Amino acid sequence: MNILITGASRGLGDAFARELGKPNDTLWLVSRNSPPSLSLEDGVKRHWIKADLSSAGIHAKIAEGVPDLDVLIHNAGIWESGAFSSGYHFENIPEAETRAVLELNLIAPILLTQALLPKLKTSSNPKIILIGSINGLENAAMPPNLTNQKSKLNFCTC
Ligand SMILES: NC(=O)c1ccc[n+]([C@@H]2O[C@H](COP(=O)([O-])OP(=O)(O)OC[C@H]3O[C@@H](n4cnc5c(N)ncnc54)[C@H](OP(=O)(O)O)[C@@H]3O)[C@@H](O)[C@H]2O)c1
Repeated sequence: MNILITGASRGLGDAFARELGKPNDTLWLVSRNSPPSLSLEDGVKRHWIKADLSSAGIHAKIAEGVPDLDVLIHNAGIWESGAFSSGYHFENIPEAETRAVLELNLIAPILLTQALLPKLKTSSNPKIILIGSINGLENAAMPPNLTNQKSKLNFCTC
């Protein structure tokens, strides 16, 4: 299987890069910094694609450099600086930061999916997996018993 994982240099993406492949699978790891999983010797082939997914034109270049794919995992994601801290105030977020978050979390997955669809369509069982984060006091996307909030959504996110 050929699997492409964005944001593979740390966090959840690093865990995917370490655990998802089986011997003879090939993982294509996209990030700006080198993924530590490249040093693993477990029979899984790993290739690093050094790329800033917020850059214009990078998505087509990534597609040019990979073979046909079976799985595409959009994992790279960022928040505003100060998010989840007591000093966070939505109304004070600079425009540039809002644009940077949307560029990576929303625009990049759309453009990368467009660029890679021809390579995914050749697979007998192609999969596109989107990792995101949705939560809120009134619209928690988790069961109420986990959040103590009344859930108005009937789906799970991870
Ligand atoms: N952590 C949580 O509690 C949590 C909860 C819910 C959902 N999530 C979601 O899970 C995903 C991963 O979260 P995480 O906590 O594992 O993130 P993380 O540890 O901050 O890692 C983010 C990854 O994205 C890459 N990245 C950031 N900017 C990039 C860019 N411009 N171009 C290419 N790659 C870029 C980083 O690599 P480089 O810096 O090397 O480029 C890194 O590998 C995100 O989509 C997040 O929304 C996380």
